[in-house]
Order: sequence, then structure tokens, then C-alpha cells
Amino acid sequence: MPVQPSPVVMGIETSCDETGVALVRDGVLLGEALSTSMDQHARYGGVVPEIAARAHVQAVVPCVRAALSSAGLTAADIGAVAVTAGPGLATALHVGVSAAKAYATALDVPLYGVHHLAGHLAADLVDGEPLPDPVIALIVSGGHTSLLRVGDLARDPIVHLGDTLDDAAGECFDKVARVLGLPYPGGPAVDRGAVGNDPTALAFPRPLTGRTDSPYTFSFSGLKTAVARWVEAHPDSTVPAGDVIASFQEAVVDVLTAKAVRACRDHEIGDLLIVGGVAANSRLRALAAQRCDAAGIRLRIPARKRCTDNGVMIAALGDLLVRSGAAPSRPDLAAMPGAFLDHAQLGVAHPAQRAA
Ligand code: KG4
Ligand code: ZN
Repeated sequence: MPVQPSPVVMGIETSCDETGVALVRDGVLLGEALSTSMDQHARYGGVVPEIAARAHVQAVVPCVRAALSSAGLTAADIGAVAVTAGPGLATALHVGVSAAKAYATALDVPLYGVHHLAGHLAADLVDGEPLPDPVIALIVSGGHTSLLRVGDLARDPIVHLGDTLDDAAGECFDKVARVLGLPYPGGPAVDRGAVGNDPTALAFPRPLTGRTDSPYTFSFSGLKTAVARWVEAHPDSTVPAGDVIASFQEAVVDVLTAKAVRACRDHEIGDLLIVGGVAANSRLRALAAQRCDAAGIRLRIPARKRCTDNGVMIAALGDLLVRSGAAPSRPDLAAMPGAFLDHAQLGVAHPAQRAA
């Protein structure tokens, strides 16, 4: 019997300030487009939801056209639509979900609502091997910081080993960058500002790393305050700004990598996956590589351009769901701004949730 080719899956991402669209079939990236409203938010020092939503409205159809054209395809070639249904900014999510429903209805193809963070986990499926199963995953984005145990991403429940009690790692980078007078977005500015400077110049705290602390729980708001207090208390400091930046960054990446390696060891899992916008950080990538090497852990981090939000990760996850035989999401799929990560797909009743 001839093998049916998998459908072309279009992925749409609009949870924050990036409008991303991509086309993936059978784990192969066919085309993509990305538009960002980042510059429009810079003067406010953070993402303004209404501005982001308006930019998505303007960008989503042109991005679909650009992705199709880069793939040499037409809309009629799309066989399924995947979309970030949450978590994220409500106004921004609504745009993507509405667009995805419109395309799925007009083209008469199935619709898959997906969890944004599960999309991050799938970000480099189009570049490499399938994900190891099981794998310990560290998600570090602007809104979330979690250590997870992930099995079959398309099917299994995702187990949270620990999360942040307060600020996310990316949020900490962004807020501290503001305190240090660096431009928005803060993460890349800190990354650049730390290069070639002394990460040991100042001993900023490593929160929740004491013997009696929960080994996989994070907290970054105290570290943010510690940097702000230090800056206030040392207006005439002779410590070079680059050393302050490097010392702060080192505190964040030291905690993240130590806890991630500890989770692998404790759970006897030899693979670590680090994803999300902060995974683009050059020092995090270097320290994780060094510590995983020393501990005999295989490390996987997507290419830097796939760490921050994009459409490829959503199309890759949609393609994985389709190939795993997942049923489509309900046609009344709604944006879920506060969606908790327990399954990759949203808008379906998972067995565990049905039983609950
Ligand atoms: O995953 P992402 O693009 O959006 C969310 O889902 O939140 O992550 C954005 C976060 C921002 O906080 C940004 O400052 C941070 O990722 N980020 C970085 C770097 N690039 C982006 N943080 C540290 N170093 C970087 N190179
Ligand atoms: Zn993200």
C-alpha cells in the first residue's frame, strides 16, 4: 500500500511581540516568516499588549503569504494548521487563534491548538534528531522558568520538577537591564555587555541554592533587588559597568545550570534540553556545555535564532502531533492566556484531565 505523505502543517505564533508563521512537513522546514513589533515597545521599556495585538493584525496575513512564497507553496497545499493558544498576552493570542481558525475553516483542514512552551521544546525538531525520551528540559523564557521531565512530547503528560516562585529568568534579565541603563530587550543587551568582562567581580546571591532549599525551584526577584540595591549604594563605584553586568549574568546562569544538571543526576536521565529566549544567552550556552560535559550529560540547545519566539517551533510541534495521530483540537478553541503546561496540545480533553 502506498504510504500517505504527511500534510503540510502551517504554524502560527502570536503570543507576545513576534508574529511567526512556518510550514513544516515530516520534520522538514519548508518555509518561514517572522515579523516583530519589538521596536514599537522599546520606548515603553516592555511589551504593550494593545500595540503587540495591532501589529499582529497587520502582520499575520503578510507573514502567511511570505512563508508560503518562501516554500514555493500556495494556501491550497496546507493540510493542517497549528497555533499557539496560550500562554501569552490575551490580546495577542486572540489574533493568532482567530487567524488560525479562519484558515482552517476556509481550507477545511484540521486545527491544532498548542502550548507555547511545548512549542519551545519542539523548536529544533526541524534541525536535528527527535527529542530524547525521557529528557530533562529547562525552559527559560520571558514569562516562565521551569524544570521539566518530558517523555513523548506529543502524548505524555509533562511533569514539572520545579518552577520559579516569582520572576522568570528572562524577566530578571529585562528588569536588571533597565536598572543598569541598558536598552530593551534586556537579555541580549546583558549578553553583549558581559562579553570580555569579569563575572567574579561581584558576588551576587545564588537564590535557593542552599542545602535545605528545594533543589529544582527558582527565585529571581531577590537577585534583581540585590543588583538594584548594589547600584543604589555605589553611585561612585569604580567597578566597571561591564563587570557588574557579567557578575549578574553569572549568578543567573550558575543557578540555572546547577539545578538543571542536578535534576538530570537525581533522575538518572542523561539528556538535557534547554529552550526559550534565555537559551540564546551565550554564557548560559557555554556554562551548560561545560557542566554537562563534566557530568557526562548530552546537552541539546536549539540554534540561537530558534530560541526566541518564532513560527517554526509551532509548526514543528503541530507536525509532531499530526504524525503521532493526535486528534485535532475542538473547533471552539479559545485563547488561554494563563494555560498551564501539562500537555503539548491545548483545546482537547486529555485523559488525566477527563478523569480529574
Ligand atoms: O521565549 P521568548 O522569546 O518569549 C517568551 O516566551 O517570553 O523569551 C524572551 C526573553 C526576554 O526576556 C529576553 O530578554 C530573553 O528572552 N533573551 C535573552 C537573550 N535573548 C533573549 N536573555 C539573555 N540572553 C540573551 N541572549
Ligand atoms: Zn516564548
